[in-house]
Order: sequence, then C-alpha cells, then structure tokens
Amino acid sequence: MTLGKLLKKASEYLFERNVEDPSLEAGLLLSWLLKKDVGYIYANPEIVLDDEKEKEYLSIVERRGRHEPYAYITGECGFLDYTFYVDPNVLIPRGDTELLAQSALYALGQQPAFFNQDMFRLNKKKQYKVLDIGTGSGCLAVSIAKGHASAFVDAVDISVNALDIARKNAERYGVQEKINFINADFLDKSIVLSGDYDLIVSNPPYIPIKEMPYLMESVRNYEPYNALAAGEDGLIFYHEIAKRAASLLLDSGIIIVECGYNQGHEISEMFFDKGFITLLLKDLSGINRVVAATKK
Ligand SMILES: C[S@@+](CC[C@H](N)C(=O)[O-])C[C@H]1O[C@@H](n2cnc3c(N)ncnc32)[C@H](O)[C@@H]1O
Repeated sequence: MTLGKLLKKASEYLFERNVEDPSLEAGLLLSWLLKKDVGYIYANPEIVLDDEKEKEYLSIVERRGRHEPYAYITGECGFLDYTFYVDPNVLIPRGDTELLAQSALYALGQQPAFFNQDMFRLNKKKQYKVLDIGTGSGCLAVSIAKGHASAFVDAVDISVNALDIARKNAERYGVQEKINFINADFLDKSIVLSGDYDLIVSNPPYIPIKEMPYLMESVRNYEPYNALAAGEDGLIFYHEIAKRAASLLLDSGIIIVECGYNQGHEISEMFFDKGFITLLLKDLSGINRVVAATKK
C-alpha cells in the first residue's frame, strides 16, 4: 500500500477508536517507524511500503487504537531538552514535571529558560546533595545531574524495574556516576538514607485510590498503578516527606514537590506546620502544581 493510503486507513482507524488527533498520530507513528520526518511522509504519498513494514505499521496503529500511550509504543519520551527511555514499568514523564525540574535547577543557582516564578535559592556550595523520591524513569534525577555540574543525586524507587530504566537514562546522558540508585520503600520507617541533603525533589504518587477508576484509559490501563495511587487522600507521601524533613534536609535546604491540581494548599500547610516557609508554583494552566519549602 502507498504511504498516502496507509495514512488514511490509520487515521480512520484511530478516529473510530476515539484517539485524539488521529491524523497527527497516524503520521507521527509512521514517521517514527520509517525514521523519516513527518514532512517527508506527507510530501511522498505515492511511495509504496514493503509488506513487512506495512504489517509493522498496522500493528502499532492497532496498539494505539487500544489507547496504549504513544511513548510506550516508541519507547521514548521528550522531557526538557532530553529524550528518556520509557516502558510500562515507569510513569511517562509529564510536561508539568518540567516545572519541578526547572525550579530545582533554579534552586541550585541556574536560570532555566522560560522559568520566571518566585523560587527559593540555595547558598553557593562546591557540591550539592540531592534526594529524588520516586525517581521512576529518572527524568528529575538525570535532568538535575546533567543540568548542574556539582549536583549529586540519591534516586530512590520502590520498583527495581523502574530503577533499571532510570539507570539506562543516566547512562544515555553520561551521568550514571553522579546518581546513586537506591531500591527502597520510602514509606518504610526503617529505610536509611544518608541525610544532609541540600535539596529534596519528589513527584510522588498522588492520586487518591477512589479516583483511579476515573483516570484516562491510556493512564489507567497502561501506566504503573504504584506510580499513581497514594492511599485514601493521595497525601501519604507528602506527610512522610514533611515528617522526615528534619532528619533528611540540611537547615539551609529546600524541598520541592509536585502535587495534584487541588492539593497545593494542604501540602503547603503541612510544611508550614513543620516550621517551613513555602511557595506555590503554577503550571501552564495556572494551577498550583509545585510546592517549594525552606526554613531559611
Ligand atoms: C509519579 S511517579 C514519578 C516518576 C518520576 N519521578 C517522574 O516525575 O516522572 C512516582 C514513582 O514513585 C515510585 N514509588 C511508589 N511508591 C514508592 C515508595 N513507597 N517508595 C519509593 N518509591 C515509590 C513509583 O515506582 C514511581 O516510579
């Protein structure tokens, strides 16, 4: 079949299955499979694809039609200036989490492009110790280690498979020596972390269990349950971080966490009750998405 006919067939198939932007997705999948620009594909509708590639294409279109996320099909996801390996063992890094990565780099003394919100800054030091709780794909740990020459990260996750992906991403960007991968349950009181952190970052699971059935199909059916669900009210990790802040964080340190659309104020109060001053940072939709806390 020609590229033009295949694209039409795939777009119709995705449209019937309620995939958003079916024509765009059909084009992107074909472009990814053929390792050619989308422009090349649209400019050459008469090219005939061999049988094997055609079968391969139709099979990935079918997967997308079942609402499997695009990033799991291609095995990659863009985050800031990087491309991270992903598979169903890790949450697909979100655009919102870039705000957390940018604010962490700002806290470390940098001026990330397009970041213009109020944020705390650490005092200048030769080296910074960072803790990333629930590292998943390692998008935060790797962006911080890669983005700041003097930042060293302890990256914790309960999932061994997630840590394998995080390690692969660190190797992709040559920062594996700057990240210590720790397989541990952060909610387990007996876990021992070195402490004395300058910066703690976390995008923990924060969906209340009762809301899990209402997530989009592509999230609910494909992304790891353990990366999303967080007890009755979704706040369990923030309580634990606030409770352990005194033993983990230096007095001059900063905590930055991502949160659900309606959780910002409650989390801010949690830290306030432990003696922190806090800031709420907004995502591109104007929603409180990141809470930053410090005692300075
Ligand atoms: C929302 S995902 C965030 C992943 C990544 N940091 C990001 O921003 O895309 C939360 C991560 O926390 C991990 N996690 C869940 N429960 C945990 C626990 N009790 N201790 C440590 N990590 C946990 C999950 O495996 C998952 O990788």
